[in-house]
Amino acid sequence: MSVVGTSAAPDGRDVRAFPADAIDPDQLPDGLVVADEHGRIVRFNAAAARITAVSPADALGRPLEKALPLEDLEGRRWWQLTDPYGGLAIRVRQPERNLLLPGGREVLVAARYVRDEPLGPLRRLVVTLRDTDARRRTERSHAELIATVAHELRSPLTSVKGFTATLLAKWERFTDEQKRLMLETVDADADRVTRLIAELLDISRIDSGRLEVRRQPVDIAAAVGRHIQAHVAAGQPADRFLLRVEHPLPALWADPDKVDQVLSNLLENAVRHGAGTVTIDVTPAPSPREGEETATSVTVSDEGPGIPEESMNRVFTRFWRGSKRGGTGLGLYIVKGIVEAHGGTITVGRAPGGGARFRFTLPVSAPAYLA
Ligand SMILES: Nc1ncnc2c1ncn2[C@@H]1O[C@H](COP(=O)(O)OP(=O)(O)OP(=O)(O)O)[C@@H](O)[C@H]1O
Ligand SMILES: [Mg+2]
Repeated sequence: MSVVGTSAAPDGRDVRAFPADAIDPDQLPDGLVVADEHGRIVRFNAAAARITAVSPADALGRPLEKALPLEDLEGRRWWQLTDPYGGLAIRVRQPERNLLLPGGREVLVAARYVRDEPLGPLRRLVVTLRDTDARRRTERSHAELIATVAHELRSPLTSVKGFTATLLAKWERFTDEQKRLMLETVDADADRVTRLIAELLDISRIDSGRLEVRRQPVDIAAAVGRHIQAHVAAGQPADRFLLRVEHPLPALWADPDKVDQVLSNLLENAVRHGAGTVTIDVTPAPSPREGEETATSVTVSDEGPGIPEESMNRVFTRFWRGSKRGGTGLGLYIVKGIVEAHGGTITVGRAPGGGARFRFTLPVSAPAYLA
């Protein structure tokens, strides 16, 4: 025999009881509203109170359409529209739907029609309410992502289209020099689109946790050296870079292409957004991962303006860019995703010389058979 607990409505009436060992409705994460056979509210749990901002004391005993006046997105009154007590007796439920609370707040509502016998009169109406805030937030962030991407793709494509159309229409009227200049712009813009698409693919892998890490031994000091050489070959003075390597370094196992992506972005940022000497320190470090002895740390510091204190927690988010010299603002988001996919960490701070300082730490992750 099951023990039955009861609770009383404000007017002292006994209301429908729940077994004492059942879940306390106030512990439910979703709002729960139960109405009796007359459409009066007999249950109004804590989550329902939070979602509707109506206290249980105000709701209990009142008619459903008064205490919970829901409207659909066209502004029609929901309880009159669906008419659970007078409507079709074959109906057993209302599927989840987006409705509006007074004041226009959205809420997801589903209902169950409880009858004693099929086609009998409605004994109870059980309604669940669910907050849409979290869902809205992710939807909004997706919508923003799409809008930003469309915008970022449009400007290089506009230039590609403009220059090719001009060249095709007036080919004879331009000198070779002018044509070369236009084609160079088209070439650079096409590169930008390609790069942006590659970055977006990385982002979608990072966001869905599908970023693959193919580990092999990586000489990270040599990799940093190669990136410095590339910048020097592209016209930066050689004394803009200072590479300091602390030996001995543990043998690092990582994905070389991905480590290159990280280094390339951090160095490019230091050169483009920073100023003065770019110092890169490669040192052994304690592992950020538990149960592992060692890791390798790479610190990139510059002497530029640095990242303002109040923006430091935003540099790793998508599309954040501080200066007008910025690119798409995806670089550091991808860097962080790659470092974390390796089990590592990355931090931003202020360099002793005043500029920005980015430090990432990768666990050595030697395969088990080498341990
Ligand atoms: N070394 C730095 N010094 C000063 N500001 C920096 C530095 N590194 C990054 N930032 C700031 O952080 C912003 C975000 O950097 P991130 O690498 O994510 O994007 P980006 O360089 O603008 O574009 P992308 O890397 O996608 O081409 C930059 O726009 C810049 O304002
Ligand atoms: Mg960048």
